[in-house]
Amino acid sequence: MDKKLASSAAQPKTRVVLGLLGIKLDGIKHDERWTMWRPTLGALLQKDWPVDRFELLFEERYRPLANFVSNDMRGCSPHTEVREQTIDLGPNAWNFESVYDGLLTFVESYPFDPDNEEYFIHITTGTHVAQICLFLLTETGQLPARLLQTGPDHRSSRETKATGRIDIIDLDLSRYDRLATRFAKAQTEARDLLKSGIPTNNKSFNSLIGMIEQVALRSREPILLTGPTGAGKSQLARRICELRRQRCGLKGRFVEVNCATLRGDAAMSTLFGHVKGAFTGAMADRAGVLREADGGLLFLDEIGELGLDEQAMLLRAIEEKSFSPYGSDRPVKSDFQLIAGTNRDLHELVRQQKFREDLQARINLWTFTLPGLAERREDIAPNLDYELERASSKLGHKITINREARQAFVKFATSPEATWQGNFRDLNAVMIRMATMAEKGRITEALVHSETALLQAHWNKLSRPSATPAASDDAAILTSVLGKDYAGKYDSFDLVQLAHVVRICRSSRSMAEAGRRLFAVSRAAREKSNDTDRVKKFLARFGLIWKNL
Ligand SMILES: Nc1ncnc2c1ncn2[C@@H]1O[C@H](COP(=O)(O)OP(=O)(O)O)[C@@H](O)[C@H]1O
Ligand SMILES: [Mg+2]
Repeated sequence: MDKKLASSAAQPKTRVVLGLLGIKLDGIKHDERWTMWRPTLGALLQKDWPVDRFELLFEERYRPLANFVSNDMRGCSPHTEVREQTIDLGPNAWNFESVYDGLLTFVESYPFDPDNEEYFIHITTGTHVAQICLFLLTETGQLPARLLQTGPDHRSSRETKATGRIDIIDLDLSRYDRLATRFAKAQTEARDLLKSGIPTNNKSFNSLIGMIEQVALRSREPILLTGPTGAGKSQLARRICELRRQRCGLKGRFVEVNCATLRGDAAMSTLFGHVKGAFTGAMADRAGVLREADGGLLFLDEIGELGLDEQAMLLRAIEEKSFSPYGSDRPVKSDFQLIAGTNRDLHELVRQQKFREDLQARINLWTFTLPGLAERREDIAPNLDYELERASSKLGHKITINREARQAFVKFATSPEATWQGNFRDLNAVMIRMATMAEKGRITEALVHSETALLQAHWNKLSRPSATPAASDDAAILTSVLGKDYAGKYDSFDLVQLAHVVRICRSSRSMAEAGRRLFAVSRAAREKSNDTDRVKKFLARFGLIWKNL
């Protein structure tokens, strides 16, 4: 017997066990029964755990058996007062409603006296239905008892076989802590996996990962990953697949396609396959990626670039789990989970009629927007170590960075001048360059300065006017918010700004986020901190409000 039981034996309260009569095991009648384990008798035979009173619960039709068993109980445990209690569990012992009702009626009428008595509910006897109901009554506090479980002890000799063993199931105690710890550990492992083992500090990124973890483990619905290029969408999709493989027994393959590379016949055929002769050059049947992903996960990167016909077929394939390959009218089946990635604003594409609204609605159930690196500056240092390790294994020798060099890099990387337009792709590229150039694998401060200057020059080139979005894109945005005839109403000076602000607003989850992005420089210099208000006031000048964007 364990310590828990011994300590509860020290309590002076009257010990009362309530238990249902076990029809089969308690009911053994032949003389051999004293060398056999019977649950109710077992509860009374515990040497270190005397029971003062036993309430034997049974239905009227089992009265003769109950009399027989209570006689045996009194015989083997003379100090125990055995009381017979009839209960009515209804006509069907497997019906939850009537069994729960019968047990609750008994519990409500029983004169519990917890100040002077301690109660244990024996859950080894009775049907599973009764056991579940007793557990419920105990957990909800309607039955002021602890759960008592008995069982045979296979190590015991013939003489002591009837005693068996008992356990008090205390869900608050150490056992439960262990379960809680295991649960927390599993959760940490899942999140580590999704974060590629990088100990990230950014709060909103970490909570985003927490949500993705829940969805990845619980849902098979499509997931949409948005965010700027290089924010890690493709990598995250692969990790989600790995997590599902480990935890959910995902069997099929991870199949990845970049929709921006699909054009014309090839688009249909790559996605849905084709039959031989479907078009010039179709020399043999082709399965297509949707089929290849059957039972697995399909990652459609840059889904915003998919043509309208392909979008329509894709929607049908997701909904019906079947589709017809190009040139065939015989549908084939494929059941896959879809993860879509995009750096475009799908809502905007829907407004421009470049993306089907129904497909957008179908894949928009779980949308996660990955922040760019510039919005996760506190994560640059942990990522530096990750990149060093990656570079080391790529180059085949250890790459190190000395303290001054690290400080110089982090200082540059977290400053407002570092715009990180290419996000992790930029970080990855600068690290690979430094690692490759490092003499004896040591990255020095001088190397950091020359490489970060190159990076800065690259960003400057990207943000020159010629590289800013085309005027026609601006026009589409402005028409969508101001109507067709906006040009005659505002100065071009204001319109250029407005187009940019709207674009940022639409790719932000909140006005506060838009404010942070638009006013990053003055914010870093702590000149103004009311970014949200500034966005609001700017929009108001055009009679616009956040909600309608
Ligand atoms: N969380 C991350 N931390 C560090 N590097 C990352 C992370 N996510 C992605 N990367 C790296 O950055 C590069 C771009 O990532 P990718 O997933 O292709 O971005 P996206 O699909 O959003 O354009 C890849 O080299 C990838 O390995
Ligand atoms: Mg990608």
